[in-house]
Amino acid sequence: MLNAVERKIEQYIISLEHPEILALYRKLPAGKRLRAKLILYIAGNNISSIMLASIVEMIHAASLLHDDVIDDALTRRNKPSLNAIYGNKLAIMLGDVLYSKGFNELSKLDAKIAQIVSDAVIKLSIGELDDVGMSKTFNTDKEQYIKMIYGKTASLIEASACSAALLAGKSQEKYRIYGKNLGLAFQMIDDLLDVTSDSQTLGKPALHDFEEGKTTLPYIYLYDALSDQEKERLRSLHGKILSKIDSAWVQEQMKAHNIPQKCYAQAALLIEEAITLMQTEGETKLLSIAKEMIDRKF
Ligand code: FPP
Ligand code: MG
Repeated sequence: MLNAVERKIEQYIISLEHPEILALYRKLPAGKRLRAKLILYIAGNNISSIMLASIVEMIHAASLLHDDVIDDALTRRNKPSLNAIYGNKLAIMLGDVLYSKGFNELSKLDAKIAQIVSDAVIKLSIGELDDVGMSKTFNTDKEQYIKMIYGKTASLIEASACSAALLAGKSQEKYRIYGKNLGLAFQMIDDLLDVTSDSQTLGKPALHDFEEGKTTLPYIYLYDALSDQEKERLRSLHGKILSKIDSAWVQEQMKAHNIPQKCYAQAALLIEEAITLMQTEGETKLLSIAKEMIDRKF
């Protein structure tokens, strides 16, 4: 099923009649195609759902190209990022092509679907802006963190599930909540893995988020659990390249205060709600996706 999506994206890009763009696109690792899977599982294997899935994946790919420039990321999915190989300008321009072609094709779909997806892309852009803005200070507000990850990550996953439900004539609200919870849990686990995994498994340096100034959920919970003196130490490390001693201290404190378990429990709560919703709809494949989401190691 996913092959049809890969072929459709290629078709869209081939139609641009620009060999350099096609060659660059082919260098991008496809990734998990989570959003496409959701759309195909919800709306079935037909031309409309393949088009929608391809469009959403093109927009997602564009957002990651831009995100890697914004984050100065040298790797993506365990490989050198496109910006690391060809520079920021090319990465931004390829992102622009994928993004605008995606929107061009989106405008040919049902107006309600175009509205759901384009609305999510606004949230996505604002979420990214908030992520960058929040990384300038040490954020201890969990609500603000959740609002930001909803925009940056969950909104497009939510829109994928919701628009696919609309396409299939299923209950939009149930699928919307499923997608939203899946997206929030995905980002929470991603942020947790940055603290608990080693660099090789992650495909990027561990504790990188905090060094970048991102006070993600594990740091919010940890800050809450530390003594005043320790709070000060954590604050002083925010946004800095950590020494071996400081990284070891952060990781020890995370362990000592059961932070991974707390983060996991928060993500698991969202996944439980998502699973219950899909049980009532008899969506076994969507149940498995939700379960795998919190059991992943990378
Ligand atoms: C990854 O977050 C970033 C996103 C999921 C969203 C990026 C959104 C934009 C750049 C704005 C929209 C742009 C377009 C072209 C539609 P992360 O940095 O926390 O995760 P990572 O570790 O995977 O980089
Ligand atoms: Mg990034």
